[in-house]
Amino acid sequence: MSMEKLRGELAAFIAGIYEGEKKVLVFGEGDVGAPVMLVGEAPGEQETLMGRPFVGKAGKNLDEFLAGAGMERSALYVTNVVKFRPTKTSAAGRTVNRPPTQEEVKLFVPWLRREIELVDPKCVVTLGNVPLKALTDKGRVIGEAHGRFMELEKRLLFPMYHPASVIYNPALKAVYRDDLAVFAHWYKNL
Ligand code: URA
Repeated sequence: MSMEKLRGELAAFIAGIYEGEKKVLVFGEGDVGAPVMLVGEAPGEQETLMGRPFVGKAGKNLDEFLAGAGMERSALYVTNVVKFRPTKTSAAGRTVNRPPTQEEVKLFVPWLRREIELVDPKCVVTLGNVPLKALTDKGRVIGEAHGRFMELEKRLLFPMYHPASVIYNPALKAVYRDDLAVFAHWYKNL
């Protein structure tokens, strides 16, 4: 099974579920075969416009943090749990982001697991609560799990805060850097 084929199957599956609605899918990108796979929540507006994960504000934060830890995004594989932008209409009538629903996450998890199998990374880095809960037991929360390696079947899983969380909570910036330093240490010794 190639990544192209997996994406084609996923696109057909989503088109079947959301018949009549136009869902723009944003697939993962990067090195298929990378030792590290980053998994975010869902694409936002910029990601949907450009058809690439983490290219908006959260992506800029992510790139900054990675650079600070001496890591390059092109050497990784980056994806999201939910592959379309979850939206709602604001009180002002604008289309805005919302968190993905449980149903949306549930729909995508088997596809994410297949994507992980294909990339076959040594470590999956989850960004925020959504991918952490999607791949482990639901009781796990990022506030407790962040910055420590755990097992994910035959791989490692390293939970980190979502790079957008520092936008809302600048105090997390130092925590984010510390966690990434732990990860970068492991990465350099690969
Ligand atoms: N936030 C995410 O979780 N993923 C993206 O691709 C962009 C923002």
